[in-house]
Amino acid sequence: MMSENVHIELCKGVNGLDKAILREIRGCSAEVYLNGGQVTSWKNEFREQLLFLSSKATFKPPNAIRGGIQICFPQFGTIGSLEQHGFARNRLWSVDPDPPPFPSNTSHRAFIDLILGHSEEDVKIWPHRYECRLRVALGPGGDLMLTSRIRNTNTDGKSFSFTFAYHTYFSVTDISEVRVEGLETLDYLDNLKNRERFTEQGDALTFESEVDKVYLGAPTKIAILDHERKRTYVLRKDGLPDVVVWNPWDKKAKAMADFGDDDYKHMLCVTAACVEKPVTLKPGEEWKGRLEISAVPSSYCSGQLDPRRALFSG
Ligand code: BG6
Repeated sequence: MMSENVHIELCKGVNGLDKAILREIRGCSAEVYLNGGQVTSWKNEFREQLLFLSSKATFKPPNAIRGGIQICFPQFGTIGSLEQHGFARNRLWSVDPDPPPFPSNTSHRAFIDLILGHSEEDVKIWPHRYECRLRVALGPGGDLMLTSRIRNTNTDGKSFSFTFAYHTYFSVTDISEVRVEGLETLDYLDNLKNRERFTEQGDALTFESEVDKVYLGAPTKIAILDHERKRTYVLRKDGLPDVVVWNPWDKKAKAMADFGDDDYKHMLCVTAACVEKPVTLKPGEEWKGRLEISAVPSSYCSGQLDPRRALFSG
């Protein structure tokens, strides 16, 4: 029973919205709003916030909360007939009291299962029946794990296709001192150039202007190095071949009502996604996607960050 689990607290958050707080004994925590099934906070054992949340985030449903981890389903971006990033991030999810078991049972005690199903209203814009499940779990070491299971429950025999993303806003100290390792040499679609396809050149990614790129067929492990804070975020993903990297930079930051003018300096979206090739499910079929993120101290090698330690350890 949820209420007997000392690692989970269901309570009210900003504007009285329902949220769950996940806690681990070492002091790590995470918060998940039922609106959007959205993780809005992830803290390490020192209570340091690891996800970016906009200083102007509104917490006014049905708008998505600007920051944290947004679930983009059944459409990522603008390719498709739906609103940008689909509707899942704008809907009220429910706690799933009895989810189907996971094949490999984990020993995590701090977790919550949420579910979003079709509504009569949404059927008008996306004519399908589905179950979209999300498990958010906090590992004993503070790792944050998101697992999504999407099932086609159509009764008319029809398949459906979707794209999906964990739109993740990482907190960084100074964007101009951040490097992303693991995406170099990959092909990407540049959203700022009509989705034209290019190949990434050279070394790790660094940032000095607006970026909005969809990297295709990315490795399962990516590292984000926050040089200033000597912290490395390590992403491990499964079932999500693409990675979207986004920072709006100064001009677009000013144009967004729920984003502070200088917020772009302190965030970077690195989003594990399934964008280029949509997933197709026949009735009764299920898709699974998974993201695991951890924050580890960066290590130095002759005054330089040594991303290999972060990328290839563990
Ligand atoms: C990114 C997209 O993931 O999300 C960008 O690649 C988009 O194109 C950004 O601008 C923010 O989208 P939204 O709808 O949350 O403002």
